[in-house]
Amino acid sequence: MLKIGSVEIQSNIVTAPLSGCSDLPFRMICRELGARFCFFEMVDAVSLTRKHIKTIEMLKTIPEDSPIAAQLLGKDPDMMLNGAQLILEHAKPVLIDINSGCPVRKVVNRGAGAKLLESPAVLVSIVKKLASALPVPVTVKMRIGYDQKYSLDDTLDLAKACEDSGAAALFVHGRLASQKYSGEVNYAAIKAVKNAVKIPVIGSGNILNPTLAEKMLAETGCDGVLAARGALGNPWIFREIEHFLKTGVLMEKPSLSERKTDLLRHLLYIKTHKTPRRSGHMGLMRKVALWYVTGFPNAASVRGNITKTRKYEELAELIERIGE
Ligand SMILES: Cc1cc2nc3c(=O)[nH]c(=O)nc-3n(C[C@H](O)[C@H](O)[C@H](O)COP(=O)(O)O)c2cc1C
Repeated sequence: MLKIGSVEIQSNIVTAPLSGCSDLPFRMICRELGARFCFFEMVDAVSLTRKHIKTIEMLKTIPEDSPIAAQLLGKDPDMMLNGAQLILEHAKPVLIDINSGCPVRKVVNRGAGAKLLESPAVLVSIVKKLASALPVPVTVKMRIGYDQKYSLDDTLDLAKACEDSGAAALFVHGRLASQKYSGEVNYAAIKAVKNAVKIPVIGSGNILNPTLAEKMLAETGCDGVLAARGALGNPWIFREIEHFLKTGVLMEKPSLSERKTDLLRHLLYIKTHKTPRRSGHMGLMRKVALWYVTGFPNAASVRGNITKTRKYEELAELIERIGE
């Protein structure tokens, strides 16, 4: 269990915010297979304020898609507060997180995402503004530093400053922004953050299977873990981690038929719940199907065939016939 401010979450395994991935169909399938707490995709405070349709659509949810958290991207405290209030009008997140970890060039070039790590005063003023005005807890998702020039002392000062400004928890990705998503996870730095603050710390980085989830908890003493890439095409990871943490025994992997059934259901949720792009749903459906392919028999040729499909029916038939 995880307690963030006044919010009690029935699990310490959290489904990460994943731009372009953690949409409603993804969350539905994850929840059905064991996820208990999910994030919407990150939303940009400026796009929200301008009421861009695509951004509003990212907040699409259904009653079973709960409890849920929202994450905001931006650097201007007033704009961030306005964005947070718009999120609360459109959806019912139990908390609002501030993105201080996105390493994408066009984001950091405008001073947002991971760049906030280098502007502690700005991050602190955003936390203060939101935490004092919003009816839900405010959290920060940060990295351990921006680039090799980082100092752990500065990171710890920033973590403490966020706590003192009203942050109710920290999600800490144990990599530098300059590492993007590769390279070692710095467990010692996450542990140092955990020891420096009293609020919950949720560790992120290489939560790819139950053993690595246990390693994160054991090496850092953190309060929970954030499953990100490990959940893409692998929504069974939540029940597998939970089972392993409870019993010390690895669960059997889902059968081929279960994998195929769950993938087909994921595609159906895309068909039912997503507004089609100009090219329909196929771009997203092929992307999602490719996530699941690892572990399928003849994965390389299946992958090639998926990329050639042009219609949902064609893709569904291809998946049904895998392993025949
Ligand atoms: C495709 C993709 C999209 C992501 N989008 C976000 C995001 O919008 N907000 C965020 O805070 N982190 C985002 N992340 C980072 C993850 O939440 C997570 O911290 C990171 O992937 C490390 O965990 P992992 O090594 O287990 O994947 C994203 C990561 C990936 C791979």
